[in-house]
Amino acid sequence: PVPGNGDDASRGFWSSRLAFILAATGSAVGLGNIWKFPYVTGENGGGAFVIVYLICIAVIGVPIMMAEVFLGRNGRHNPITSMRLVAERNLKSPAWRVSAVVGMLAAFIILSFYSVIGGWSASYVEHALVGDFAGGTADSINAIFSDLLASPIQLLIWHTVFMALVVLVVSRGLKGGLERVATILMPTLLVLLLVAVGYAMTTGHFGEAVSFLFKPDFSALTFNAVLIALGHAFFTLSLGMAVMMAYGSYLRRDISIGRTAISVAFMDTAVALLAGLAIFPVVFSFGLEASAGPGLIFQTLPLAFGNIPMGWLFGTLFFILLLFAAWTSAISLLEPVVEWVEEKTSLARAGSTIVVGVLCWALGIASILSLNVWSDVTPLGMFERFEGKTIFDLLDFFTANVMLPLSGLLTALFVGWAVAKESLKLDLALDGTAFTLWYNAIRYVTPVAVLVVFAYNLLA
Ligand code: PFF
Ligand code: NA
Repeated sequence: PVPGNGDDASRGFWSSRLAFILAATGSAVGLGNIWKFPYVTGENGGGAFVIVYLICIAVIGVPIMMAEVFLGRNGRHNPITSMRLVAERNLKSPAWRVSAVVGMLAAFIILSFYSVIGGWSASYVEHALVGDFAGGTADSINAIFSDLLASPIQLLIWHTVFMALVVLVVSRGLKGGLERVATILMPTLLVLLLVAVGYAMTTGHFGEAVSFLFKPDFSALTFNAVLIALGHAFFTLSLGMAVMMAYGSYLRRDISIGRTAISVAFMDTAVALLAGLAIFPVVFSFGLEASAGPGLIFQTLPLAFGNIPMGWLFGTLFFILLLFAAWTSAISLLEPVVEWVEEKTSLARAGSTIVVGVLCWALGIASILSLNVWSDVTPLGMFERFEGKTIFDLLDFFTANVMLPLSGLLTALFVGWAVAKESLKLDLALDGTAFTLWYNAIRYVTPVAVLVVFAYNLLA
């Protein structure tokens, strides 16, 4: 066998079950948990939304994660080749691999703008550290954010820094790169988050945050909120982007996919809830709006950091936490495409990473310019539903609303209907009842739920 190219051991494995869990949790825990979860929860009325979100994670997210890890481990190649191999072993059409193609394309596009937002986090570490928020007013804090978005040069510098950090890790490969960074950053992140929650407990508004997050008011729940919850469950668990397939391809066969996927989903959920418990008490103690939207952590929170004792320190720690979370997620977005290039070309690990990283960095420039110089450029503006949408908006819209559900749907259909049941039983290592639950979820519940969201997003 060609080294690195096949089933041979030289391709490498995660050193342990824990190493895989930390790396996969590193992928899952990201901007989605710390930036997006609190603000979508805020926008959608709190508790009832959280319950629907938890149901989506358990009933749809976990089963798809298991399916993706299964495909990667069974194929033991890059996601596209893995899916083809699994299809062939089950005497099914190799065309099923289109699911991985769509997922990898989505990963590449998403990384291009995820890196821009990762760059915002890095720039906010600096702002907090040098005391730019100190004594700030709503206007001065908002100005920091809008000045950043208005400056292509600033955005480009931070996007470049962030992408360089990602390329650095991925180019070092599985053990020296992905695994090492996850084992250092994930425990650090957890400690920082607990410090943040500890601080939030001293604000006197902790109880308010707890009831906001956990007291359901079902009258505030709309159909749209249910769809957002499902979409977010996908995004937060890094599904539909071939990432869990790529990570699964390095997982030893004697490790239970079922238990492992549940651990990752549990950690991801715990971090999202803890982030809510860290952020909302601070927001409430300053009488700020929980429904502030995407600006919640870049505008609302810095206002608080600027006006509390030792705010520069808590602010710096908070944005470092955000940066670490974004970093390990971005690493996982780059991995599937790099794995593919490495296996399909004569380029080695480092070369593959640099080629893909540079292309992705270049695409990110389109998103940067969409925020300022090209803010009036709306390529699909002639269609009513895309009116006013910049290139950045369109990339976000098509990946989140078209590519991810499509890839997720095809994955569920493939694993649920085309792969032999015996092979699934063997690989997932779930006991009888758990297997039956999972099998029905992947065959029926998931495809139906994803189709409903898909149809609604496209037609409504
Ligand atoms: N799960 C990440 C988050 O919640 O921020 C985002 C993400 C990372 C999505 C990697 C997809 C992915 F492949
Ligand atoms: Na997440």
